Amino acid sequence: MPSPARRFSTDRFLFGGDYNPEQWPEEVWHEDVALMRRAGVNAATVGVFSWAALEPAEGVYEFGWLDRVVEVLHAGGVGVVLATPTASPPPWFTRAHPDAMPVGPDGVRLSHGSRDTYAVSAPAYRDACREIVQRLAERYGSHPALLAWHVHNEYGTLDWGEHAAAAFRRWLQRRYGTLTELNRAWYTSFWSQRYGDWEDVLPPRATQYLANPAQVLDFKRFSSDEMLQALREQRDVIRATGSAAPVTTNFMLPTWNHLEQWSWSAELDLVSVDHYLDTVGPDGETHAAYGADLTRSFGQGDPWLLMEQSSTSSTVPGRRAHKSPDRVIRNSLSYLARGSQGALFFQWRAPAAGSEAWHGGIVPHTGAGSRSFRGFEQLGAVLTAIAEAAEPPAEGPLVEADVAVLWHAEGWWATDAPQLPSDLLDYSSTVRAAHRALWQAGYAVDFAAPGADLSRYRLVLVPSMFALDGQAVRRLEEHLAAGGHLAVWPFTGYADEDLHVVPGGYPGRLRHLLGLHVEELHPLAAGDEVLLESDGTGPLRGRVWSELVVPDGAEVLAAYAGGGLDGKAALTRHRVGAGVAHYVSTFLDEEPLRRWLTAVCEQSGARPVLGAPAPEGVEVVRRRGARADHLFVLNHSGVPVRVTGPGTNLLTSSPADAGLRVEPRGWAVLRTTERDGWSAEALEA
Ligand code: GAL
Repeated sequence: MPSPARRFSTDRFLFGGDYNPEQWPEEVWHEDVALMRRAGVNAATVGVFSWAALEPAEGVYEFGWLDRVVEVLHAGGVGVVLATPTASPPPWFTRAHPDAMPVGPDGVRLSHGSRDTYAVSAPAYRDACREIVQRLAERYGSHPALLAWHVHNEYGTLDWGEHAAAAFRRWLQRRYGTLTELNRAWYTSFWSQRYGDWEDVLPPRATQYLANPAQVLDFKRFSSDEMLQALREQRDVIRATGSAAPVTTNFMLPTWNHLEQWSWSAELDLVSVDHYLDTVGPDGETHAAYGADLTRSFGQGDPWLLMEQSSTSSTVPGRRAHKSPDRVIRNSLSYLARGSQGALFFQWRAPAAGSEAWHGGIVPHTGAGSRSFRGFEQLGAVLTAIAEAAEPPAEGPLVEADVAVLWHAEGWWATDAPQLPSDLLDYSSTVRAAHRALWQAGYAVDFAAPGADLSRYRLVLVPSMFALDGQAVRRLEEHLAAGGHLAVWPFTGYADEDLHVVPGGYPGRLRHLLGLHVEELHPLAAGDEVLLESDGTGPLRGRVWSELVVPDGAEVLAAYAGGGLDGKAALTRHRVGAGVAHYVSTFLDEEPLRRWLTAVCEQSGARPVLGAPAPEGVEVVRRRGARADHLFVLNHSGVPVRVTGPGTNLLTSSPADAGLRVEPRGWAVLRTTERDGWSAEALEA
C-alpha cells in the first residue's frame, strides 16, 4: 500500500509545470493565471532558480514577490510545488565563498555565470542551503496552496576539489575501516598505487594515464551519497518546521546519471523525475514508457510525479525538434498510465531570452492563440475527464508486472570505464533495448534493484550487470528455486562489488545458474555482426559481442552460424530446480531480441497486458485504481485500431463491449473491473 505521503493528489492529475514569474513583470502573472485556468492547469512549480531574487545580498531577503505569486496562483485555484533554490547560488555567494565553487578533475575551479555551480561538500554551501530553506519552509510550509516541496533541481554537480577530497576520505573510512582493506578493494598492488596514509587518497583527479576503476566507481558512489546527504539536510529542515507537504527532488532520466536512485527514493516522500525524450521518431514512445517504468519502480510501485517533460519541442542532436500536440497528449497519458500523478512540463511560459530561450513553453513565444496552446487546453480537458484514475488502489502496486529488469546505477558506472573488452558496451542502451522489446510485445515491466525481493515476478531479466554482490546472486538463486525464469545478457556477473573478476571462467558469479562458462571473449568491431542459427521464423543477428560458451549442463538452443565461433553455443537454457535460466551470448538486434524475449516470457508464464500482443505501435497499460482499473490505450500508429472488452471510455462514455475505435495517433482511457476478455486489432486505414 502506498505510504501516506505517497498517496499524493489522489483526486486529480496535476497539470502545469515550471513557472518563473521572476522573469516577467507583475501584470503578466495575472494573464498567466487566467490562461492557466483556461487550460485547466492546476499546478505550478515555483522558485527553482530563484535564490538571487529571494536573497539579493547575503542576509537580505525579499519574499514579497513570492508571497504575491503564491497568492495569485492560490486565488486562481493553482497549487504550488515549491522549489528550494539551491541549485543556483547567486553571484554574491560565490564571491563570498570562492572555496564553495566546484573543481573539475583537471583542477580548474568553475565560476558563476550559468547554474548548478557549487561544491556540494563545501560547508559554506551546505550552511547557506539550510538557511534559505529554513526561511522558505517557515514562510510557506503550511500555505494551503502548497502541494509539495521540490528540493533543489536535478542533483548532479560533481566536485573534485579540496572539500570533496576530505569528504571522500571520510566516506572511504566508513566503507573500508582500514587502509589495508581499501588497498585490497582498490587492488593498489597494481601500478604502485598502495596507500600508506589516508591523506594520500584523492578523488580520481586528472592523471597521466588510466585511472583506477575501483577508485572511480567509489568516487561515483561517494558523490551520490554526498548529494543525498545534502538532500536529507534540506528535507529535515523542512520537516522540522512542521510542514506536512511531501518532499521530493526531481531525478533526471536517463541521459546522464550521477545518482543511485534506489537509495535516494527511499528517502523521498514522493519520487519525481524530469524525462526528456531522446528521439522524436516513433521510438520516443518506448522512451517515455522506459522513463516512467523506471521511476515507478524506484518508488516501489507507488504513485510518482512527472515533474518535467518538454512542451513544444525536444532537444535532439543539432536542433530543437517540434513536438506535436497529439504526441504531447499520448506521452502524458503514457506517464500517467504508468503511475505518474501528473503531467508537468518545462515550462509554463517560454522565456524571452537567456540560454533556454528556445526550450518552448505551454505558452510559446507566439502566445496562447497558437495550435500548441490549444493542444494543451485539450490535454487539460482529457486530464479532467480521467481524474478518477488518479486514485490508487488500497493494496498493491499501481501497475502489475510479471517481468522485472534488474537495474542499478552501478551497472552503468562500471560499464563506463575505459579499457573494457569492448568500447561498444553500453549499459543504458542494452537495458533500454530489453525494455523496448517487452513494450513491443505488450508486457508490463518493473525494474528491480539487485538484491531486492523478486518473488512477485515470473521472469527476471539481467541485460548486463558487470558486477554483482553476494546478496544479488542469492536473490537470483531464490527466484529460480521458486520456479521463476531468469534471462541473462553478456558481461553480467563477471566481478564482485569491488570489480574483482571472479576466476574460473565468466560469468563467475552466475556460472552455476546458467550451467555454462565462457572461455573466450570475441567482441566485434563497430558495424560487424554475428549470425545465430535460425529460430524458425528468421535470422537471429547479434552485434557488439560474441564469445566462446562452454555448456556445463545448459541446453543449446541456437549455435553461432559461420565465423570463428561456427557451431558453438550462442543461446542456451538451463533448468535450475523448478526454474529456468536463459542466456544469450551476444546483443541481438531489435527484431530477434523481441522474438527471443517473447518466447522466454511465454515459457515463464508471464502474461501480456491484453492477454495477447497488441497491434504494432499500440501501447496498452493497465493502471490499477481504487474502485476500478483503467486501461490506457495509446494508438501511436498511423492506422485505426479497435479495442474490445468489458469497459467504458471515460472520454466519450462509450462502452467497449462491442468494440471501440481508437483513431490513428489517438487514445482512449477505459474504466474496467475485468482483467480478461480484452482484445485489440488494427483496422484498415
Ligand atoms: C531540465 C531542467 C530545467 C531546464 C530543462 C531544459 O533538465 O531541470 O531547468 O533546464 O531541462 O529543457
